[in-house]
Amino acid sequence: MNKLRIMSVFGTRPEAIKMAPLVKELATRDDIESLCCVTAQHREMLDSVMDVFALTADADLNIMTPRQTLSSITSKCLMGMDGVIEDLKPDMILVHGDTSTTFAGALSAFYHQVKVGHVEAGLRTYDKYSPFPEEMNRKLVTQIADLYFCPTENNRQNLLREGVTDGVFVTGNTVIDALKTTVRKDYRFATALLNELDYQRRKVVLVTCHRRENYGEPMRNIFTALRDMALQNEDMELVYPVHLSPVVREAAGKYLAGTPRVHLIDPLSADEMHNLMARVYLVMTDSGGLQEEAPALGKPVLVMRRETERPEAVAAGTVAMAGVEYADVLRMGNELLRDADAYARMAHAVNPYGDGSACRRIADAIEWHFGRLPERPADFRP
Ligand code: UD1
Ligand code: UDP
Repeated sequence: MNKLRIMSVFGTRPEAIKMAPLVKELATRDDIESLCCVTAQHREMLDSVMDVFALTADADLNIMTPRQTLSSITSKCLMGMDGVIEDLKPDMILVHGDTSTTFAGALSAFYHQVKVGHVEAGLRTYDKYSPFPEEMNRKLVTQIADLYFCPTENNRQNLLREGVTDGVFVTGNTVIDALKTTVRKDYRFATALLNELDYQRRKVVLVTCHRRENYGEPMRNIFTALRDMALQNEDMELVYPVHLSPVVREAAGKYLAGTPRVHLIDPLSADEMHNLMARVYLVMTDSGGLQEEAPALGKPVLVMRRETERPEAVAAGTVAMAGVEYADVLRMGNELLRDADAYARMAHAVNPYGDGSACRRIADAIEWHFGRLPERPADFRP
């Protein structure tokens, strides 16, 4: 029998971190040829992940431009994918999550009548403009996909409510598989500042913020609240690896640069970031991935967004919604810095998003779908 040609398509940092362990798991299967196509919607931030996980792309669309628009990402991906699909002839294309690469990758597969597997399927906020454009990307990919790999049972229920019942697997999130390979107790940072910080005596707050719907006023509110938090709490250090988006860098520079105890640094490699997260006191973020990683590492998270598609860790008590208003972000941040009981209630490790075997389940599900394995993999249960 011919090997199955399974092509993973991704382009941004979070997709790469979450697809890396899957590309590798697929490569261990005797009956699978694991192929990898990067759109390079992100260039430097993608390349960093490729290095950390020692991945090589079979095709690279190299589409990124400064301040790119959604239309430019989508159209360049679509145009580039035509040739890649013709050359590499995949039996199935795997896309991840909700970026423009995800949507364009799935649409392109459909145009070529190639089956689509959606990794991290079934997340929803039910607000078309938040996160923007990600909520719509997820819904559109749901219409196109053949197989759905849901991190949690809650995600499967979301799909069920939309009438999607076939080809749905609950696998856990592959980000937990990735975390298991990067976090080490004896890790030494390549970034000098991160070795110098005193994580026992100082309260180190890790911040990230990059979402398009937070551009403008929400980002101004968030950054001024973080600035005032740093000014009001002499026992804290704020570490913010700033996303390479020029919009984000300008805002962070304008509102946070020069503030005592605030360290604005360049994006960290995934292994630096995961090991930093394992050592800090608190995480404040609008990122999706951090909402999954930090709870697994026992770190409280304040989400600086209006909503979340990841309610599981909120229910478990390790994640709280701070919103995007100045007063709320400042009040909730200060509370976790100053109230030991409030902090202790949130600082416990929970793993609603996975047990580190998501990639095994996804690879099994693909083999089962193509008749190469006799049994359907059992669903992930936390
Ligand atoms: C994208 C995703 C978002 C995801 C985020 C992860 C879309 C629409 N958005 O948003 O869902 O949460 O990635 O980080 O798909 N840039 C660089 N070098 C890089 C990366 C980015 O210079 O390595 C700059 C470029 O100027 C680029 C800009 O950042 O134009 C924005 O990148 P883009 O992919 O359009 O949006 P993100 O906000 O990163
Ligand atoms: N991350 C990283 N370096 C950084 C910031 C984030 O490696 O400087 C990792 C983070 O640990 C997580 C992923 O990137 O695995 C999240 O990406 P991002 O916040 O850009 O996107 P989102 O998850 O919001 O889509």
